[in-house]
Amino acid sequence: MSDNFRAVQVSEHVYWVGAIDWPVRNFHGYLTGRGTTYNAYLILADKITLVDTVKKPFTGELLERVASVVDPGRIAYIISNHSEMDHSGGLPAVIEAVRPDKVFASANGAKALQDHLHLDHQITVVKDDQQLSLGNLDVTFLMTPMVHWPDSMISYLAQDKLLFSQDGFGMHLASTERFADQLDQDVVTQEFAKYYANILLPYPGPVSKILTKLAGLNLPLAMIAPDHGPIWRRDLDGLRAQYAKWAAREPTRKAVVIFDTMWHSTELMARAVGEGLAGGGAVAKLMRLDVSHRSEVAAELLEAGALLVGSPNLNNNVFPTVADVMTYLRGLRPANLIGAAFGSYGWNNTATQQLNNMLTEMKVEIVSEPVSVKYVPDDQALARCRQLGELVATALKRICKD
Ligand code: FEO
Repeated sequence: MSDNFRAVQVSEHVYWVGAIDWPVRNFHGYLTGRGTTYNAYLILADKITLVDTVKKPFTGELLERVASVVDPGRIAYIISNHSEMDHSGGLPAVIEAVRPDKVFASANGAKALQDHLHLDHQITVVKDDQQLSLGNLDVTFLMTPMVHWPDSMISYLAQDKLLFSQDGFGMHLASTERFADQLDQDVVTQEFAKYYANILLPYPGPVSKILTKLAGLNLPLAMIAPDHGPIWRRDLDGLRAQYAKWAAREPTRKAVVIFDTMWHSTELMARAVGEGLAGGGAVAKLMRLDVSHRSEVAAELLEAGALLVGSPNLNNNVFPTVADVMTYLRGLRPANLIGAAFGSYGWNNTATQQLNNMLTEMKVEIVSEPVSVKYVPDDQALARCRQLGELVATALKRICKD
């Protein structure tokens, strides 16, 4: 084993021993434009403990970072906070290398680890609020089902006032710096929001529940250490308030207009819708889907109040790029949106009604019948598109508090 990869001490007893994935760009459909990290943490307690592992190809990097501080064979415990493969893929090889006394996970985690990894090793199940003695230090487990998976839990190291938050408070951002305050704050803000929009948006209830529980426990907190991206050590109340705001999803005057186009008719319509939105006092963001990734759309939608969708009719269907993004957004279940559909067609006018149905299925409040145009919009048709934008802007004024 070389000593190329070193651990980084992040608190009195904790070292970061994760891996940096600089080139990854596709994270199960999420465009990770700035790469990511898979964070694992080593607690140097009487019982030396590893918190989470890494994606399978990075296991050597993890073990090398551990070896820069301590012989990996001295690890007594492994805590698996989350069984998704980016955090558990390395677990079988780590167990093989380390031969730990115990591996801890939630009840769902124990099952999920077996279903994924088919381990020979017995998993010790831990419960909500259970405390684990590491000898001189203690870890408390808090169950956080659906933040991000049914198995998810977080772990609190009281002596260092440090919360291992797994996917929660994470972001996809590769960096050599380990703390958020060492990085460009615009990038941090952008990637933090993008991560919430693409990973945690479907789960406002579970997010609110754990935030309420943490507030009630009033744990002294000096650091939040997620499983992706940098560690937080400043304004931890502000972070939690930001999550609470996103979970509440209060509508704003921002309207996201997504569309694609074959011969620029739907594009002309989208531009007219955008002008109507702006004229009516809304903030319009137009995203043409041949150049905007689905995960960027999700990020834009995070703080929006309206979603307008435009598509040409292609072989009696919604255009493929539009269908892709709508399928993705339906899964993310953004709440409290109003919206409408528009588009152009040649001889069969079907796509806009399909879009309308998709919006209805997403529980978007439809404010207008779809606006459809045969072939190329004339001035009258563009005026109807502009009116659609103005109508949505007026509706946003009515529902927004600001
Ligand atoms: Fe980073 Fe849900 O895994």
